[in-house]
Amino acid sequence: ETGLFTYDPGFTSTGSCESKITYIDGDAGVLRHRGYAIEDLAENCDFLEVAHLLLRGELPNAAERDTFESTITHHTMVHEQLTRFYQGFRRDAHPMAIMCGVVGALSAFYHDSLDINDPHHRMVSQHRLIAKMPTIAAWAYKYSTGQPFMYPKNNLSYAENFLHMMFATPCDEYKVNPVLAKAMDRILILHADHEQNASTSTVRLAGSSGANPFACIAAGIASLWGPAHGGANEAVLKMLSEIGHKDRIPEFIKRAKDKNDSFRLMGFGHRVYKNYDPRAKIMSQTCKEVLDELGVHDEPLLQIAMELERIALEDEYFVEKKLYPNVDFYSGIIFRAMGIPVSMFTCLFALARTTGWIAQWGEMIEDPHQKIGRPRQLFTGVAERKFVALADRP
Ligand code: SDX
Repeated sequence: ETGLFTYDPGFTSTGSCESKITYIDGDAGVLRHRGYAIEDLAENCDFLEVAHLLLRGELPNAAERDTFESTITHHTMVHEQLTRFYQGFRRDAHPMAIMCGVVGALSAFYHDSLDINDPHHRMVSQHRLIAKMPTIAAWAYKYSTGQPFMYPKNNLSYAENFLHMMFATPCDEYKVNPVLAKAMDRILILHADHEQNASTSTVRLAGSSGANPFACIAAGIASLWGPAHGGANEAVLKMLSEIGHKDRIPEFIKRAKDKNDSFRLMGFGHRVYKNYDPRAKIMSQTCKEVLDELGVHDEPLLQIAMELERIALEDEYFVEKKLYPNVDFYSGIIFRAMGIPVSMFTCLFALARTTGWIAQWGEMIEDPHQKIGRPRQLFTGVAERKFVALADRP
């Protein structure tokens, strides 16, 4: 009865595209940005160097780096009227809801960077989005606390500025701990770009219609919010807290393997990595460095996470299905130790991923052959049938 129509074989069901920005070998657990291994970038660069690499295709030399950092620094403020946008949200609004709204609203303020056919407009919108995301994200947190917004400071680095805007108040300067700032900067690098994941594909698809860059990034934020994607870091913390003690881990491993149970081990598994996510290894090491710096020993959630990882990696189900910890497994423990509330975890992911999104958007827009995205389908509905008037329907 069902008429199956063949779909355009040229378009894979996952929607493939060409890109020069990020390379992943899921079986080998390899991640490279413009040819450089994520391990080398995380160890030797800061976030703005990697942002320059993603956007321009090359690591900056000293002069280029200073110019890029100055450009980004001098775009960190937002139009003052945007502060009123926050007032429209309930104080308990999820910060990702605020990010979706405020970032989309940037389209209404920056008319001199909306024309996607103008290379200068494109570049300015890229700089503005990278520069303003920490401010917008930090202010979403401040709004939830009832504290006044803290403005960015031009003498601080990208990561330091975010921590300052999160935790300083008009009454107290926030003394940036260099170890925490370095850890935050490295975490931003680890989240910067990741090939054609769900949110990047969302940004590309939105951009392929000619939508302005701010609206496209708002679409990416919406897609990232899901617990199967960027929302997983928040979900991992909730899962570890629900497990509560190492003794309960087997119960949750059993549930994760039960096809009739919707429970998944959050922070585990990946559509592409069938080996250890290289970002998770660096995140795990960073987690230990941060906890040591803060003098937090035997952090219970870290102990549960490490034991959960040990058990899962020895379990034949997870081995057979090639399920390993992913980038989200340890990040939440670090954020929590830094005093960042769970509700802000995915905002941090969005803050970092904006650079990858806007680099991928730029690559697509600059391709003279690009067309509007139009995924096809395999029709599985009812084949054609004759119309039945209302009076004749049984
Ligand atoms: C991110 O794409 C990206 O690059 C994303 C990302 C990025 O940087 O942009 O890396 C960021 O989103 C990381 C993923 C964060 N999500 C989570 O940690 C949520 C928990 N993970 C699962 O929901 C899951 O692993 C997904 C969604 C990430 C992937 O799911 P898939 O595509 O179904 O994975 P798969 O096809 O490899 O699964 C193989 C099998 C399946 O069982 P079968 O259908 O073969 O019987 O393993 C099962 C899955 O059901 N499985 C899990 C599991 N993940 C997959 N079983 C238990 N626990 C899990 N976590």
